Amino acid sequence: PKGGKLLVLPGDHIGPEVVHEALKILDIIEETTGAKFEREFDLCGGCSLDKHKDSVTEEVLKKSEEADAVFFGSAGGPEWGHSQPNPESGLLRIRLRMQIFANLRPCNFASKSLVHRSPIKEEIIKGVDFMLIRENCGGAYYGNKIEEEDYACDPWEYSRSEIERMARVAGALAMQHDPPLPVWSADKANVLASSRVWRRIVHEVFDKEFPKVTLRDQLADSLAMLLITKPTAFNGIIVTDNTFGDILSDESGGLTGSLGLLPSASLAGAPAAPGTEPTQGRNNAGGVRGLYEPVHGSAPDISGKGLANPAAQVLSLAMMLRYSFNMHHEADVVEQAVAKVLDSKEDGGLEVRTGDLGGKAGSKEMSEAIQGEVKRLLKD
Ligand code: NAD
Ligand code: IPM
Ligand code: MN
Repeated sequence: PKGGKLLVLPGDHIGPEVVHEALKILDIIEETTGAKFEREFDLCGGCSLDKHKDSVTEEVLKKSEEADAVFFGSAGGPEWGHSQPNPESGLLRIRLRMQIFANLRPCNFASKSLVHRSPIKEEIIKGVDFMLIRENCGGAYYGNKIEEEDYACDPWEYSRSEIERMARVAGALAMQHDPPLPVWSADKANVLASSRVWRRIVHEVFDKEFPKVTLRDQLADSLAMLLITKPTAFNGIIVTDNTFGDILSDESGGLTGSLGLLPSASLAGAPAAPGTEPTQGRNNAGGVRGLYEPVHGSAPDISGKGLANPAAQVLSLAMMLRYSFNMHHEADVVEQAVAKVLDSKEDGGLEVRTGDLGGKAGSKEMSEAIQGEVKRLLKD
């Protein structure tokens, strides 16, 4: 039987709004496929600070380790500020505890309307399709920080094993395509010691384990520029450090014109190709342990009004079905349903898009349109 154990952490502001809509898609999948997802809800972020005076409790950290997957909304908001622990620290602690070191952030233009919505010219943006893999448990985000009145330090550390496991995820994903996808490793080896070690070890792993994959180095700052001027040049896989990956993945949001469209998966090992089993980070459902969340944040400026675009959360659900539960067909269906709704107007149908995409629909309406498409596609 398909399915498994889910920990749902909706978080703050629009987090609970879009998580609520996305879970309706999971209901439909349960009804039509017979899969069963045991769902437990808990707190992380500002909501946890309010109740427990901590951004995440030990109990929730334990539950996140034991779940087959964590479905996460977003954490943060101006009412909590950033003195530690802030809401965001809850998410960082879960990432570390779960050892979900590979954060997959896809950026593609599968739907026509996205091409039209992009602030970038159509001839430049058309056909963009890359997967950014961001290191998620190290670098400047973690380590022994010092924060004093007049001095602060965030050590930016990487060790061999942390780099090797990232290179292996990038290589494994590249090899899932025939011919293998090209890989770019983005770093600042011209300045940072951690980047020089990163570059050397990534090459060692590829030379030895993925000789068929073309690996190129790209300085992260120039990559930021080239993703705007020549984004299709990076069709394939980009593997990079935590901080660079954070910034470059918001840039993906800029390419699509809205953060409301970008999902992410944080995994404890490389995803297995359809029909195979993961070799690292396996959960009890036969997939990879992971946490799934949109790239966007809690959008306090639009929360409480039913205006948030649910697509990024719904697409995160699709990634969860694929990587943690081996439900490849259902994942494809959910992605197709989102593309269909986004393209509805272009295809001569009704426009059902939220404000960030220039439309007038609310979260619920857009979600219902996606649900309708999922039902229709699952019947076919
Ligand atoms: P944000 O991503 O929340 O919002 C940036 C802009 O995009 C806003 O104008 C917002 O309205 C819009 N936007 C974002 N998601 C949208 C959606 N689904 N539909 C429509 N519009 C959307 O970034 P921010 O404003 O810099 O951060 C707000 C808070 O969220 C901060 O506390 C930040 O730390 C936190 N944050 C949390 C996560 C997470 O939990 N994974 C990620 C990023 C930021
Ligand atoms: C993201 C967010 C987080 C990060 C914050 C909220 C901790 O910006 O998931 O991209 O910086 O990783
Ligand atoms: Mn970010």
